[in-house]
Amino acid sequence: TAPHIPVICVDGPTASGKGTLASEVARRLGYHYLDSGALYRITALAATRAGLALDLAHEHGIARMAETLPVRFVDGRVLLGGDDVTDAIRTEEAGMNASRVSALPAVRTALVALQQSFRRLPGLVADGRDMGTVIFPDAALKVYLTASAAQRAERRHKQLNLKGIPTTITALRADLEARDARDSQRTVAPLKPAQDALLLDNSEQSVDESVAQVLRWWDEKQPFR
Ligand code: DC
Repeated sequence: TAPHIPVICVDGPTASGKGTLASEVARRLGYHYLDSGALYRITALAATRAGLALDLAHEHGIARMAETLPVRFVDGRVLLGGDDVTDAIRTEEAGMNASRVSALPAVRTALVALQQSFRRLPGLVADGRDMGTVIFPDAALKVYLTASAAQRAERRHKQLNLKGIPTTITALRADLEARDARDSQRTVAPLKPAQDALLLDNSEQSVDESVAQVLRWWDEKQPFR
C-alpha cells in the first residue's frame, strides 16, 4: 500500500496486553494506532443488531455490512453511526462474537482496505492477529506478544473487577482458551507469528518494560534516525 510509511505490528492472543502496549508505543512515537480487533467487534455488534446469526449462512450479508461500516474513532470513543458503542464492544460476549465473525473469510476480506487506510504519516502501530502476516506484510517491525494463559486470565479478571463486573479466573481462562483455539485453528489468517516476527513474552514484564523493549527494537531497525 504505502511502503514509505512505517508500520509496527503487534499481534498475539486474547488478553496478552496488545492494546495497552501498541497504543502506548504509538503515543510515544506520535504514530497513529489501529485496534483491528475493534473492527471485528463492531462488525459483530452491527450484525447482531441487524438480527443476523453470526454464522456461515450469513457470511456475505455480514461482509457487506463490514464493507460499509459507518465507524469513527473520536477521542478514544468508538462510534457506529450516531451510536457510542465504546463499552458495548468491550464485553466478553462481544469478544466471543468478534471471534465468530472473524472466522468468516468474506468478512476478513471486506475489512482489508479499511485497515490499510490507517497507514498514514508519520507512521502506524497496528494491533491484532494478522497485522504482520496478512494486512501489513511489509511492516518494518513485527512483534508477536504472548503471556501465559494463567497471567492473561488474571489480568482480565482484575480489569473486569475494576469495572465492577463479577467473574471467576477459571471461567475467564476457559473463555480465552476457547477463543485462542478458534483464532488459531481457522483456515483464513489464523493467529500465528509472522516468520519475521520478534517474540515478546510479557508474563513477567510490566507494561513499561515491554514498551521499552519495543522502542529499543524500533531504534535498532532505524539506525539513521
Ligand atoms: O483483539 P480483540 O480481542 O479485540 O479481538 C476480538 C476478536 O477479533 C478476536 O478473538 C479475533 C478477531 N480478530 C481477528 O481475527 N483479526 C484481527 N486482526 C483482530 C481481531
